[in-house]
Amino acid sequence: MTDTDTAYGFRPGQPNRDLTGVGRGTPYGEVLRRYWQPVALSADATTTPRRLLVLGEELILFRTRSGTPGLLYPRCAHRGASLFYGGVEDEGIRCCYHGWVFDPSGHCLEQPCEPEGGPHRDRIRQPWYPVQERYGFVWAYLGDPERKPLLPRYDVLEDLGEGELLIADDSGVGGGGPKLLDFNWLQHWENVLDPFHVPILHARFSGFQFVREMALMPEVRFEYTDRGVRSTQLRTLDDGRRLRRVTEVMFPNLRVVASPRLAAGRTDILGWVVPRDDESFHIFTLARATDPDYLRRLRSTHDGKPWAELTDAEHQRMPGDYEAQKSQGTVTLHGDDHLTTTDQGVAMLRRMMAKQISRVADGGDPPGLVFDDRDVVVAITGGNFLDD
Ligand code: FES
Ligand SMILES: [Fe+2]
Repeated sequence: MTDTDTAYGFRPGQPNRDLTGVGRGTPYGEVLRRYWQPVALSADATTTPRRLLVLGEELILFRTRSGTPGLLYPRCAHRGASLFYGGVEDEGIRCCYHGWVFDPSGHCLEQPCEPEGGPHRDRIRQPWYPVQERYGFVWAYLGDPERKPLLPRYDVLEDLGEGELLIADDSGVGGGGPKLLDFNWLQHWENVLDPFHVPILHARFSGFQFVREMALMPEVRFEYTDRGVRSTQLRTLDDGRRLRRVTEVMFPNLRVVASPRLAAGRTDILGWVVPRDDESFHIFTLARATDPDYLRRLRSTHDGKPWAELTDAEHQRMPGDYEAQKSQGTVTLHGDDHLTTTDQGVAMLRRMMAKQISRVADGGDPPGLVFDDRDVVVAITGGNFLDD
């Protein structure tokens, strides 16, 4: 480096599109498509068709009057009118243009303009994706139908006790900003393996956004698991006890981050970072709670104000996860990064992603897919643990 290395000669680098891209046929897009993904709240699948953007694909979500959710390609197989304007009936959705009716699996049930109601309508199949409902979400499988896995269960969400409930949320919990996050999903997901930003961004820089203990610089260990990468963060508290905080990511886009307010025990919150396209994503969160307002109460306030009400000057004075991650770029320029020892978790995750891309491209299975009923409950290890 010399004094002549000014910004004048600087040429920005490029994103790593293999890791960030989510569309059909893209390297990691094909990894994401091998798993079930939450795509909407169950409550949002209704008899009013709804547009969704999932992994770069525009789709129409609806629920038949007899109660079955469906997820169809929008352009009607007849001559392309959008099923967004369709009318939902007992067993399917009727295209507004010439009245063809499609069931949730794309079968054409009626062609009212055709003689005898369309004797050849069974040759038509509206492109569709399989969906299932669980835990208050509609889950969709957008991958190769021949390789469709089972929809897993998660041990921390099972066997609710008296007075406990599951909260299903799509408001961007953990994103630190708006409901629809307007930058590449991976900037958020890999942040789960960046425990060193916590004492800086969330304490030293912006004031205590969580609790005081989180301001201590942790000792950190990263390790690969069967399903992703885990970090263990050790902090010695004032009273001498050791706080062991375990966070993990599970392929292809699950974040397991225990409450940053340090509720003790295994985490009761799971979050799926679901890309809409390369430049935006939703966080679908499930929480086990006794208080229906549990997630709302976890949201950070900034000098008593919610994020949406901050002025530009307040965003500058108290930046949080959203300000840090969005400002990396709509899709960050990985080519310009300088990874150091504390980025080990991020580097391990990127390496594991590259490995799974090759595995999927070679016809193999990425980690954690469940094909056998006996393996259907996934064990979660993340949480906050106090050791004496
Ligand atoms: S375009 Fe849908 S029925 Fe004709
Ligand atoms: Fe953070």
